Amino acid sequence: MESLKPDFKIHHSYPVHFTRNVFNLENPALSRALGLPREFLSGGGGATDVSGNDFGKSTEPKVSARALAILDDGLVSLNPEIPSLLVDYFDLLRPYIQLESTITLPGGESCKNDLSNLTRIYEAVARYGIDRHSYILAIGGGALIDVVGFAAATAHRGIRLIRIPTTVLAQNDASIGVKNGMNFAGRKNFIGSFAPPHAVINDFALLRTLSPEDRRAGMAEAVKVALIRDPAFFQWMEAHAGQLGRFEDWALQHLIVRCAELHLNQISGGGDPFESGSARPLDFGHWSAHKLEELSGHQLRHGEAVAIGMALDSVYSCRAGLLEEKQMMRVLSLLTDLGFSLYCPWLDELNVDQALQEFQEHLGGELCITLLDSCGTGLELNEIDGTIMKESLAWIKESYEKIGDVRGKSASQVSAKSKNGTSELKAAIHVSSESEKVP
Ligand SMILES: NC(=O)c1ccc[n+]([C@@H]2O[C@H](COP(=O)([O-])OP(=O)(O)OC[C@H]3O[C@@H](n4cnc5c(N)ncnc54)[C@H](O)[C@@H]3O)[C@@H](O)[C@H]2O)c1
Ligand SMILES: [Zn+2]
Repeated sequence: MESLKPDFKIHHSYPVHFTRNVFNLENPALSRALGLPREFLSGGGGATDVSGNDFGKSTEPKVSARALAILDDGLVSLNPEIPSLLVDYFDLLRPYIQLESTITLPGGESCKNDLSNLTRIYEAVARYGIDRHSYILAIGGGALIDVVGFAAATAHRGIRLIRIPTTVLAQNDASIGVKNGMNFAGRKNFIGSFAPPHAVINDFALLRTLSPEDRRAGMAEAVKVALIRDPAFFQWMEAHAGQLGRFEDWALQHLIVRCAELHLNQISGGGDPFESGSARPLDFGHWSAHKLEELSGHQLRHGEAVAIGMALDSVYSCRAGLLEEKQMMRVLSLLTDLGFSLYCPWLDELNVDQALQEFQEHLGGELCITLLDSCGTGLELNEIDGTIMKESLAWIKESYEKIGDVRGKSASQVSAKSKNGTSELKAAIHVSSESEKVP
């Protein structure tokens, strides 16, 4: 018997732009992402790529290409002018590109739970003749972009996707990478694919209407990537926790760009962009976070759950002798200084063994959990000591529940309370860690 062995490589490259006012008629970011030449729009909206460079070469105009825009209803309800701004922008791009329709879908996690959202996108793709030379624009939070990304990756086996993320978390993490996903049978991201986007445009001005809770939630992913990859970024966050906690524009923008850059470095330089191995460094704190999100019926935001998950894995790292206690306290302090609540009622229902097993199933292959060696260095372990993890969980619950009764409230609802109680909280941690030596 003969065997054949096809062997080919596919190169992926896509721009991640940072700009303001992407729908301003003089801002060329979107027209360039659509392949129109540099001189097509006269302006110069000041858009740059992640390294601060001007845009790269644009390709020839795609004559008569079609576009379909899917928008997040949470964004549109607070910015009702966006659909007509988009129509005006595309009017300038005729005859090269035709915006066939703008569709608004529910934003937030519920969007990922409802497969009928996929059907709506597929129907529009069919109705408006959106083909593999067309563009789908996904404009909204990470959840909507995950859904549109899956639809775009699967309709006609892949339509070019331009992501315009409008939350902190989507701009610094969810929308810049190569994954999409939907929830199924109560399991987070059970459905999904790896599909790099055609382009990403991060517009800081769109964050203006985002709730304080969603701004804060996005910062969790920055703490995460700093903890596993960049001690200097972690120190910067510690030094500017006040400005970050007040969501000062310059501080938040710096956090988003650096966090995006670290994520992209991992994806493009980490050797496993499509996660065929078991190591998942960017999932620090996520094994329990995903479970807590599910247990809360998604009342807990992804970033809020990740903050709690990172606290738990930092305490575990310390108890397991990997991380100095002083370093662990730095993690917990930064998270509470940023306004995160490290207790949520669903911690009581977290079944460590089951959550670890589900995480392993999601990874495929052997269990691989990222833990901490220091504030800036992660390390991967293939075994978790269930007893130590349960003790760590009990310690988190006991220490942070002292802030007050938060049962039935989401972490964001209690974050104001935890801010008021920060000194009480720190005292509680101190007493607890003194009484046990190691937490
Ligand atoms: N694909 C990936 O690699 C990846 C990575 C990390 C997270 N995620 C996913 O991202 C999702 C979380 O995304 P998120 O944090 O962006 O939250 P989200 O998408 O749930 O949005 C939060 C809320 O903000 C609203 N909103 C969006 N933009 C707004 C704006 N500018 N002004 C006012 N309201 C606005 C939305 O309607 C929603 O109600 C989770 O489902 C998570 O699993 C995906
Ligand atoms: Zn995450």
